[in-house]
Parts: sequence; C-alpha cells; structure tokens
Amino acid sequence: MTICSLGPSRRSVLGLAAGLSLATAMPFAALAQNSGTAPLKIATIGAGREGGALGTLFAKAGHPVMFSSRHPEQLKELVASAGPNAKAGTVEEAVGFADVVLLIVPYTAIEGIGKDYGKALAAKKLVIDVSNPIARRDGEEIVKWANEQGGAGLATQKLLPGAHLVRAFNAIGFARLGEDAQKTGDKVGVPIAGDDPEALALATRLIKEIGFEPVRVGGLAMGKYLVPGTPLAGEHSAGEIEKIAATLK
Ligand SMILES: NC(=O)c1ccc[n+]([C@@H]2O[C@H](COP(=O)([O-])OP(=O)(O)OC[C@H]3O[C@@H](n4cnc5c(N)ncnc54)[C@H](OP(=O)(O)O)[C@@H]3O)[C@@H](O)[C@H]2O)c1
Repeated sequence: MTICSLGPSRRSVLGLAAGLSLATAMPFAALAQNSGTAPLKIATIGAGREGGALGTLFAKAGHPVMFSSRHPEQLKELVASAGPNAKAGTVEEAVGFADVVLLIVPYTAIEGIGKDYGKALAAKKLVIDVSNPIARRDGEEIVKWANEQGGAGLATQKLLPGAHLVRAFNAIGFARLGEDAQKTGDKVGVPIAGDDPEALALATRLIKEIGFEPVRVGGLAMGKYLVPGTPLAGEHSAGEIEKIAATLK
C-alpha cells in the first residue's frame, strides 16, 4: 500500500460547522448532569468534512476536542466555529491529548498513522474508526487488500494492532450529521461494530450524547457492511438497522 491523501473541502466543513453553531451547546456541567459521566478528551485524526462535523458535535456536547491533521494551522476557522471546547494540534499532540480518538482520514493514511502512533493508539480506551476504503479516492489496491482481510473493520485492526476499535458513522454523510443529531423522537440510528465490550460501551455512551441511537450490528467482521453502498448505509432508525443487520452475515 502507498500513502496518499486528499485535500479536505474546508468550505464545506465550515459551512456545516456554521450550521452546527446553532445546535445546542452543552457546557461541561450540563453534560455531566445529563449523562452522569464526566467529559472525555476527544481527538480527531483528520479534520476535513466528516472529522470537522463529528468533532464539532462532540465539542458542542461539552467534550474537550482537539482537531488534528498534518496541517493544524489550517484548522483555525473550524476551531472557532466549534466553540470554546475545541482546539487544534498536530496528530502527535492530539494522540497525546486524547482519551478517545476518532480516526477520520482517507483509508490510505491509516497505514502510516499505525506505524507512527500505533502503540499510543493501542493504549486509548477507544478508537472510533470512521474511515472507509473507497476505490475512486484510495485506489483499487487498498480496497482489494481490505477485502482480503475480511473488510474494513478487520483491515483497520490489522493496521492498528491492539487498538480498541469500534467502527461507526462510516456511511452518514458529513452534511447530514448536524441536522440528524438534532432529531427528536425516533432518533437516527448509527450501526456500530466492534469486538471489545468496554470500547463498545464507551462508544455507545458517546454516540448517544451527541444525539444518535447506536446499534451494535456485530463484531469488527461486520465492519465490512459499515461502508457506503451497503444496505446499512445512510440514515435509518435503530429498529430499521436491527432488521437490515439480521439479513447480513
Ligand atoms: N465525507 C463524508 O461525508 C464521510 C462520511 C462517512 C465517512 N467518511 C470517511 O471519513 C474519512 C475522511 O473523509 P472526509 O470526507 O472527511 O475527507 P476530507 O474532507 O478529505 O478530510 C480528510 C482529513 O484527513 C486528513 N489527513 C489526510 N491524510 C492524513 C494523514 N496521513 N495524517 C493525518 N491526517 C491526514 C486531512 O488533513 P491534512 O491533509 O491537512 O492532513 C483532512 O483533515 C474517509 O475515510 C471517508 O470515507 C466520510
């Protein structure tokens, strides 16, 4: 595999973040009161369209968030729009800062991130893998390789040995996240896949805190369905996700 990257669409991210600034900002005390638990330090590796939108939701929910990329100096506007809980740093700083890491990069970047930070990432309580192998962006070779490992979940685990991985949010588009998080009543479900019970419990808590309903569809082997273009992709209620997942193996 070779490492490559795509430039993020900063304008899209900031447009979305501006929308999110209208979302309910929940200060630390309110968060603790609501969930009975303390805020966690959350880092994003990758702060483009999806990373910017998801990190903003966690910052607005009261968690200290560090956005990171190879160019943190370009993240000033994102940080400003995400509010006082947000800051930006290098990937190294973000990994050092975080209790929980959101991995939201082009799939080709994960190999290098694993080599540079794999040991530190394995020591985190939870790494949420939002990244997907996509042929038109990442090339056929890495998609073929990921399939040979059993799909995106098991493939990421191979690149990040020992990490407490949960796949989530892989096929909910960045432009929908802010609005979806605000939905009342039948909330938008988020299929999640993972093998580590503690990491799954923590992911469940965090995903609920930003307004979604997590549904465990299976272990990391089911991560192959948590990519765009599968029946689980897009927005479904929790009940719909359960029904769809029952037809998949
Ligand atoms: N866009 C969506 O709606 C969506 C939805 C669900 C899942 N996803 C998945 O999320 C991932 C990111 O997609 P995106 O649309 O957010 O992409 P994007 O807008 O292009 O952002 C990619 C981010 O990754 C960073 N990055 C790239 N290579 C890196 C490296 N080696 N180390 C650290 N950071 C690196 C980039 O920043 P620098 O170039 O400054 O380092 C940028 O912040 C993809 O795997 C995608 O399939 C996207």
